[in-house]
Amino acid sequence: VSNLWRPFSVPGVPTLFKTIKGSGACVTDQDGREYLDAAGGLWNVSLGLNNARLIEQMVTQMQNLTFASLFHSSNSPAERLSEKLIALSDGAMQYVYLSTTGSSAVEVALKVARLYYWAKGNSRKKRILSFDSAYHGCSGMGISASGILAAAVTAYEDLLPGFQTIPSPRDEHFSLQTLVAILESEADQVACLIMEPILGSAGVILPSKSYCQEVSRLCAQYDVLLVADEVATGGGRCGSMFASTLLDLSPDIIALSKGINSGYFPLGATLFSSRVVEPINRKNVALQFGSTQDGNPVGCASALATLNFISEHDLERRADELGASIRANLAGNADCPVIKEVRGLGLMIGIELAHLDAGRTAFSAAESAQVRHQCQDAGLLTYHFDSGISLFPALTITDDEAGCMVDILHEIFCTLC
Ligand SMILES: Cc1ncc(COP(=O)(O)O)c(C=O)c1O
Repeated sequence: VSNLWRPFSVPGVPTLFKTIKGSGACVTDQDGREYLDAAGGLWNVSLGLNNARLIEQMVTQMQNLTFASLFHSSNSPAERLSEKLIALSDGAMQYVYLSTTGSSAVEVALKVARLYYWAKGNSRKKRILSFDSAYHGCSGMGISASGILAAAVTAYEDLLPGFQTIPSPRDEHFSLQTLVAILESEADQVACLIMEPILGSAGVILPSKSYCQEVSRLCAQYDVLLVADEVATGGGRCGSMFASTLLDLSPDIIALSKGINSGYFPLGATLFSSRVVEPINRKNVALQFGSTQDGNPVGCASALATLNFISEHDLERRADELGASIRANLAGNADCPVIKEVRGLGLMIGIELAHLDAGRTAFSAAESAQVRHQCQDAGLLTYHFDSGISLFPALTITDDEAGCMVDILHEIFCTLC
């Protein structure tokens, strides 16, 4: 029994696995055993662990200014990070709110979506649409928008009012049909649609460009804000700073966290276009939210160092090319028919597993977890979803490490046939 409660774990049930140290894409456990971390921490350690440049710049920031509140003052790392994020959006975004986690970045995004219509004098438009298998974090609003959690969180009854799920782009036609039906009859009550450009927790569900174009078009037509939750997909993981750009999604608000600072310090960022901010600015009222650690200068310094490292080392292109080759290698092994599909963009990869019966029955969540354990026993850390395994390795993973990752996966998948 342990007195440490861990996220999404049964209280009191201890884990036998303790991470003691890590470097690059490798971590070491309590027995000195080394693992290749294909889960990239929790999808966030984009530069690998123990990156000397990143640590050096964080230490310099700590020595200079360890903390400053953004409530009544500003600080240079926060201002420089805002400018950097705006520049990376190529001007599509013009304003930034810095917070502490992916959940807080989403919470701010959804609050501001409602604030926008309130500022325009249209308080009826406050409903928030999201996908039925989406994950948007664990804040009050995020959990209410997270269709994937809805069945599991009955103990919190009731979730917040004003949220509605629609079918995910797993079935693009059905998803669009439902969205159109809601917008045709009730757009006057809808503030925004929040979507992960690629649904991570649902199993790396990758919508088509034409789907994303149509969603963007519908949101514009019906005056509904489009919020891109790029907490997992942003920061270069998918081969570009924003997956939205690759998929032709045109968001009004973008939520970021995870990879933008390689997970070295808690940080979230929410980006807004001018369109969203103008009516709010005109109202000239104070934002009614904020947290002590929002925009912590050390967190901002870690993001600046990470984003500079990514561009200096051309890691977006690296993610794009290496991801394509890993996916091709995994999918191309005829000895592993248990692999039903390999999908993703860049180094966000989902492997759908199915039994070899006539109906190709999908692996269950328990079976997928079992495969993840087998990978771990073989020295490879992965993540699992309901019907397969997902990979989010560091963008700095070497060719040899990527080869080793594919070999271990093939070896395990072959035993499942
Ligand atoms: C798409 C998405 N949104 C939000 C979150 C929540 O981020 P955090 O765990 O940093 O609160 C996650 C975390 O996995 C995520 O994948």
